[in-house]
Amino acid sequence: MALIRSRGGAAGVLVGVLLLVSVASTSAMMVDLAAVLSGQGGFSEIIKVAQNANRTQWPSAFTFFAPSNGAVKKYSCLKEPGQSSIAGRVLQYHMLTAAYADAAIVTRTSKAPWLAYTALAGQRLNITNKNGKITIVGNGITAKLNKQDVVSKSTQSVQGIDKMFIPTTIQNVCGIKAGSTSSTTVNARRSRLLEVAALMVGLASVGYFYWPW
Ligand SMILES: *[C@@H]1O[C@H](CO)[C@@H](O)[C@H](O)[C@H]1NC(C)=O
Ligand SMILES: *[C@@H]1O[C@H](CO)[C@@H](O)[C@H](O)[C@H]1NC(C)=O
Repeated sequence: MALIRSRGGAAGVLVGVLLLVSVASTSAMMVDLAAVLSGQGGFSEIIKVAQNANRTQWPSAFTFFAPSNGAVKKYSCLKEPGQSSIAGRVLQYHMLTAAYADAAIVTRTSKAPWLAYTALAGQRLNITNKNGKITIVGNGITAKLNKQDVVSKSTQSVQGIDKMFIPTTIQNVCGIKAGSTSSTTVNARRSRLLEVAALMVGLASVGYFYWPW
């Protein structure tokens, strides 16, 4: 009896040590995007989205294309606690996993007609430079680089843009149909029912669902 108990204790200690190690290494990898953006005037809306977001997946080195307050406005639901997963997903469309300062982007794009980077969410961000004016196309949406080097550190770069990259596969972020210029506000209850239906077929785990009509 005593032997069994002491073996259990040793195993418990071992599990405890492993847990500590894994927690420590996870937090070392994670960067708090909201903290990086904090205090940046003109970006208070995306900061709130970043504070709300499921932030388990930020790389330690990144370039983040930060949408302006005006761009975030119509997706204000991303600030609500119930939307943390989709908020996390949406932020990943705006992030590259290496830090490029504005100057680096300009230099690179002036040497090629366009450059395609892969965002953290896996989609392409296609960057072009026309006479020094940088345009970024993501998910079929064209954004202008309009505030350069909001943050410029060796491992973190934040560049301001005037749009949000919401893909057409996400048909219902804050009740707005992707691709439509006017916001189609949907009935909240119908939206909730769809959310439940999406959960049931497992789509909610990837953070989005199709809008079938
Ligand atoms: C955050 O995202 C990770 C990975 O996608 C997931 O495993 C985790 O459950 C999410 N956490 C919350 C609180 O939604
Ligand atoms: C990037 O944009 C340019 C200019 O619009 C286009 O010609 C090119 O095919 C695009 N590349 C990718 C990989 O989307």
